[in-house]
Amino acid sequence: MSFLDKHKVLEKNATLLLVGSLLVVSIGGIVEIAPLFYLQNTIEEVEGMRPYAPLELAGRDIYIREGCYVCHSQMIRPMRDEVERYGHYSLAAESMYDHPFQWGSKRTGPDLARVGGRYSDAWHVDHLSDPVSVVPESVMPKYAFLKKHLLEGTYIQDTMRAHQIVGVPYSDDMIENGQRDFRVQINPDGDYDALLERYPGAQVRNFDGAPGISEMDALIAYLQMLGTLVDFSTFNADVSR
Ligand code: HEC
Repeated sequence: MSFLDKHKVLEKNATLLLVGSLLVVSIGGIVEIAPLFYLQNTIEEVEGMRPYAPLELAGRDIYIREGCYVCHSQMIRPMRDEVERYGHYSLAAESMYDHPFQWGSKRTGPDLARVGGRYSDAWHVDHLSDPVSVVPESVMPKYAFLKKHLLEGTYIQDTMRAHQIVGVPYSDDMIENGQRDFRVQINPDGDYDALLERYPGAQVRNFDGAPGISEMDALIAYLQMLGTLVDFSTFNADVSR
């Protein structure tokens, strides 16, 4: 009996075929699912990723509150057109501190995963205040009010603690200094060395150019950080490592 003839027996007997299919599917299932029960983490760590600095975290909350994710994704797929337009495809590790993740599901506007550093702070202030003032064909809503809403950072330590509970490695030192770090990030004349030690690569400046810490400051601090933490000039995705 040739191999094909043997297979014919299986194909001609519905019950046998069903049992055979179930067997094959369950082996496949076990191979895929079982490792998840004992692996601590399925995300490969990447150098440069760190928890968000308090001001960035506050900006991220505003991003979520305003529903920016409804029109913007934060996930560059590994396809040529996307990589040419937005940069290196997104790594799982780049959203490992996002609770909830901000991958989005629709792009009315462009992907924002690597928008950090692409525009100046002043451009962001103009664009968020009145998008058509810089991009005439834009359908993005205006968010000028963000500049008027000042933040005290009253709850920032609680927010950090909540993220700590869901697994973001904020140290007690980071949480203890949450308020201080929150305030010093918009003050280039301040003593921000400790902030940079806790959050390497954090950008310190008055993002909206106006006095006080506004929601605009926080949101722009967040946008300017996006995609800048991992250094892709030295990153090596070689899986055989
Ligand atoms: C109704 C959909 C919509 C919403 C909501 C929205 N945007 Fe946009 N956004 C767009 C569109 C369309 C563009 C492209 C035109 C432009 O640059 O204004 C854009 C462009 C941008 C850009 C420039 C990106 C680039 O690479 O050129 C940034 C940054 C941005 N949006 C941030 C935000 C933030 C932050 C929020 C939330 C406060 C937000 N957007 C909410 C539609 C939206």
